[in-house]
Amino acid sequence: MSILKDKKILLAVTGGIAAYKAAILVRLLVKEQAEVKVIMTTSAMDFVTPLTLSTLSKKSVEFEFKNEDFTWNNHVELALWADLIIIAPCTANTISKMANGTCDNLVLATYLSAKSQVYIAPAMDLDMYQHQSTKENITKLEQTGNKIIPSETGELASGLIGEGRMAEPENIVRFIIHDIEKKLPLLGKKVLVSAGPTYEYIDPVRFIGNFSSGKMGYEIAKEAANLGAEVFLVSGPSSESVEGYAIHLAKVITALEMFEEMSKQFDSSDIVIMSAAVADYKAKIIASQKMKKSENELTIELEKNIDILKTLGEKKDKQFLVGFALETNNEEQYAIEKLQKKNLDAVVLNSLNDKEAGFAKSSNKIVIFSKNGEKLVFDAKLKTEVAKDIFTFILKSTQI
Ligand code: CTP
Repeated sequence: MSILKDKKILLAVTGGIAAYKAAILVRLLVKEQAEVKVIMTTSAMDFVTPLTLSTLSKKSVEFEFKNEDFTWNNHVELALWADLIIIAPCTANTISKMANGTCDNLVLATYLSAKSQVYIAPAMDLDMYQHQSTKENITKLEQTGNKIIPSETGELASGLIGEGRMAEPENIVRFIIHDIEKKLPLLGKKVLVSAGPTYEYIDPVRFIGNFSSGKMGYEIAKEAANLGAEVFLVSGPSSESVEGYAIHLAKVITALEMFEEMSKQFDSSDIVIMSAAVADYKAKIIASQKMKKSENELTIELEKNIDILKTLGEKKDKQFLVGFALETNNEEQYAIEKLQKKNLDAVVLNSLNDKEAGFAKSSNKIVIFSKNGEKLVFDAKLKTEVAKDIFTFILKSTQI
């Protein structure tokens, strides 16, 4: 679920060429399931029509204090309605007026009445952006609690190349989401997550592995980041990505490498979630050259791998330690045994008997067992939602 879902967003559009991108911004906000209402200055209407913006937002667009039928557009009500206000694009002219308390149009009157967070996406030409007065106005707006969404560098309408271009709508949305998330419960906390399979070499070109895609662990890491945590993700081979997230990613191949990376972060972590599917066994001897086929049968001697979670459980002090258990039978009994043997605070069970659970699926069905004897059964959900459930449980169970 998007953090912007059901948020009432007032988008104020002012008159610059980037106003045409307001249409894309409305679309993206609507996609995030936000309720969007657009107001604009009359000069913005030279660049984008109210009809476009009202069609996309499914709400009438206001630009004057009064409408044709002489009804009054109440700027105070508009401002109070909003959970957050975005001014995008915000021209040098509007920035100057806002910084000085001028109130000669609906956008400015609404801004002056605002009680919620205001986000400003400046858009202007290079020299205007670098002008001392613009810089001072922007600083003043920041100092009075507004959030400035940094302009981007690129080709400008004048043909000049440089800073001043309105942030891309995707980046505006990302900025706002990130800003909201910063106020979230895991801010200042460190979360360590493992994901994916491990591969254990047999020879330079072959390995013992499993079908884990890493998706569950990546979703857990992303949710931790959404909740404001500093996240360290140690991942075995996986095609999943953390693009767009401020996650420290360490890619590993073997269980031993995973253990080493996790050990580096463990002591300073507050929450550790071991969702990787670690190979239990590794080849006793790894052939230094590619093994040639000769005999009809081949026996590879295996030895036990390090149990990362158990080793971490033995040295745990303040960490809230969560393991996973993927079972095919006696699920509950085996999961609780793992909880106890590995000194965990909780274990997340997924059963291969549930058709919605398992490797490489986008959904999962989990049961959480806590060391206090709780058992929480969840419905099958997308792994993004499962990750949220896991953190809801963790936040309820620990004082961190
Ligand atoms: N785990 C680990 N190191 C291993 C094996 C497992 O850290 N060598 C972790 C997994 O990441 C998971 C938990 O231990 O969080 C349970 O893993 P699972 O494979 O279900 O159980 P095992 O302990 O390997 O026991 P078994 O294979 O006998 O079920």
